[in-house]
Amino acid sequence: MTQTLLLLPGDGIGPEVTAEVRRVAAALTPDLTIEERDFGGRSYDLHGAPITDEAVAAALASDAVLMGAVGGPKWAGVERLKRPEMGLLRLRKEMDVYANLRPALCFDALADASSLKREVVAGLDIMIVRELTGGVYFGEPRGVETLSDGQKRGFDTQVYTTSEIERVSRVAFELARGRRNKVTSAEKSNVMESGLLWREVVTDLHRREYADVELEHMLADNAAMQLVRRPSQFDVLLTDNLFGDILSDAAAQLTGSLGMLPSAALGAAGKPGLYEPIHGSAPDIAGQGLANPLAAILSFEMALRWSLGRAGEADRLFAAVEAALAAGARTRDIGGGLTTAQMGDAVLAAL
Ligand code: NAD
Ligand code: IPM
Ligand code: MN
Repeated sequence: MTQTLLLLPGDGIGPEVTAEVRRVAAALTPDLTIEERDFGGRSYDLHGAPITDEAVAAALASDAVLMGAVGGPKWAGVERLKRPEMGLLRLRKEMDVYANLRPALCFDALADASSLKREVVAGLDIMIVRELTGGVYFGEPRGVETLSDGQKRGFDTQVYTTSEIERVSRVAFELARGRRNKVTSAEKSNVMESGLLWREVVTDLHRREYADVELEHMLADNAAMQLVRRPSQFDVLLTDNLFGDILSDAAAQLTGSLGMLPSAALGAAGKPGLYEPIHGSAPDIAGQGLANPLAAILSFEMALRWSLGRAGEADRLFAAVEAALAAGARTRDIGGGLTTAQMGDAVLAAL
């Protein structure tokens, strides 16, 4: 039976980096069917919504979804529910991909590309597990209201249930068992009720089912500092939707560039996963061929591994990226001069 990958290029550098995924897939997995839909600002412009019902249905019917990026200044004034980013949040929610794996891995060849010292980042291998379908991104009530004195009041709600915390924690503990057996759970239990519940639920699940895994609790602000001070202390870093968004951008820079960090968003077994580079549409470099396509290519590698049951091809692709970097292939963000397509060429040559 043929497998289908739904590609959602999106906006800005999204189409530029996913074009390189297409070339890699054509060479590595020619039997994989690739479909494509409009997404984000492009979908809003063409169809009046950042994602159409038909595109959501196509995502749910596929074996895996790979997106580029959405958003940009062109859509800054669009009403909230129709903004490009809301298309992404809807897709995550409808696919129910609650566990977002964001591996911060520093390739040996890039240990000097980080803005941190080589000895701090060399050998870096952290798996961030970010809760992706709950928390302040989705909590109700939310909105902006006008007060009697004419001021406005903007509000969002940070909310988590026991089961939401437990299911993502389970993913973190399971991953740790296959790695260095340690989970650091980051929250703000010192100031937030939901943070206190988060710590309780993680502690309880650990005691009941994962006592063999080392568990450490860390306040999220300290975790940000520890990430840049001594990142090697982390193995699996488990955290909520908002803290995970912020901590993973910081972790990306440890690997050399935001353009290096892929992700996999997973839900129930057997359901399609959503794969995305963690970077955005990079309006500052869009259309110039400067974007690093490796985060997108490595997201495809994760799709091969986690959704498509093609670990062999995933290994080959990972090795090709490693070899291209070892041979000196560098886009501008990691200290070189290759264009997006030339970096794609380097990976294809290594394949
Ligand atoms: P961004 O991630 O787009 O860019 C931040 C910085 O990193 C920029 O200087 C950019 O040039 C650089 N960068 C990002 N990806 C790169 C790559 N592959 N190669 C080289 N350099 C790269 O973040 P931003 O500027 O804060 O946001 C721009 C837009 O993207 C916003 O509309 C935001 O909402 C959206 N966004 C979307 C996603 C997504 O679709 N998953 C993620 C983050 C931000
Ligand atoms: C990310 C992005 C998204 C997020 C935005 C674009 C909705 O920053 O995937 O990291 O905040 O989750
Ligand atoms: Mn982000």
